[in-house]
Amino acid sequence: MTASYDQYREDRLGRANVADTPERIAYYERLATLGTGALWTVANRIEPWEPASGSVPMLWRYRDLREDVLRALDLVTPEQAGRRVVYLENKGRSDVVAAVGWLYSGLQVMAPGECASSHRHSASALRFIMEGSGAFTNVDGHRMTLGANDFVLTPNGTWHEHGVAEDGTICIWQDGLDIPLMNALDANFYEVHPDLNQAVSHPVNDSTAIWAGAGLRPAGVAWSKPYSPLLKYEWAPTYDALLRYASVTAGSLYDGVLMEYVNPHTGGPVMQTIGASMQLLRPGERTRAHRHTGSFVYQCAKGAGYSIVNGQRFDWQERDIFVVPSWMYHEHANGSDREDACLFSFNDLPVMRALGLYREEALAENGGHQPILS
Ligand SMILES: [Fe+2]
Ligand SMILES: [Fe+2]
Repeated sequence: MTASYDQYREDRLGRANVADTPERIAYYERLATLGTGALWTVANRIEPWEPASGSVPMLWRYRDLREDVLRALDLVTPEQAGRRVVYLENKGRSDVVAAVGWLYSGLQVMAPGECASSHRHSASALRFIMEGSGAFTNVDGHRMTLGANDFVLTPNGTWHEHGVAEDGTICIWQDGLDIPLMNALDANFYEVHPDLNQAVSHPVNDSTAIWAGAGLRPAGVAWSKPYSPLLKYEWAPTYDALLRYASVTAGSLYDGVLMEYVNPHTGGPVMQTIGASMQLLRPGERTRAHRHTGSFVYQCAKGAGYSIVNGQRFDWQERDIFVVPSWMYHEHANGSDREDACLFSFNDLPVMRALGLYREEALAENGGHQPILS
């Protein structure tokens, strides 16, 4: 959209178009002393024609970050740091410490035998395991053991702590939270558990034993919480589900073979404010571009390829993380003709949908592909 077209719309369609005069400037200055302002001086900025995200598309290469993440092991203890995390800062969102939009993300590292203190907060949280063995997360007395590409929830208000077993290895995982959203809403609380570490009061991995049956739900088990009773989504059944689905579907034009992690009790998103998906791009697959409201954080879980976001090409390989801001065109490609590629992602779509704000649009021009600008 050109500046002249915007000007045309503003001239013709009732947008603010008021030139400064000495008299008007004096008036604005007078209003400012009263804690007020003239709406027409800000209307075009605060009411854009369409979402104009302040976030920029970015990619963080794991091979650039990994050594520095590991270095944190020598610099701070989990007790000192609370959480030993290197966070991902979007160039356009450093004021709210967001990776994109209102979503936070970081890379957390723990050594064998370490366990952070138990806490809870208003922010909904997830982790996606990147490397290492022996990691565990406790959520409200449920302990889950975690391996690479496992996805685990620590929903809003649940007591949780993370650690690595004595006989494990150094573990790194990606955290995803809606901390910036909670702060934007002035609704963020944080508490440390009175006992520092909570007791494990259920059999280990009971959440998956009860709720992860394919197409089955346990008879007579009640669940009234507003988040998924399945707290861990393991990689093996997730990948298997993608392969099975891929065997019978052409997939989405925009996402390839995409499956959403769901709350098995409702079929809805895993948490109230954060949704998550895993998608598979077949060998050689290149999707078309679309855009929609909602902010997305992706991690390559398998393979290699590239995505074009707002005209910028980002090449990714396993463990690289990239973001797609709201209402920016994006498309994905598997870089291999032999191997499939998998992208994990989390997003704020449950918020968009709950508030009636979800909107989606395909790129019509150029065969559905963006020209690459950089
Ligand atoms: Fe937490
Ligand atoms: Fe999309």
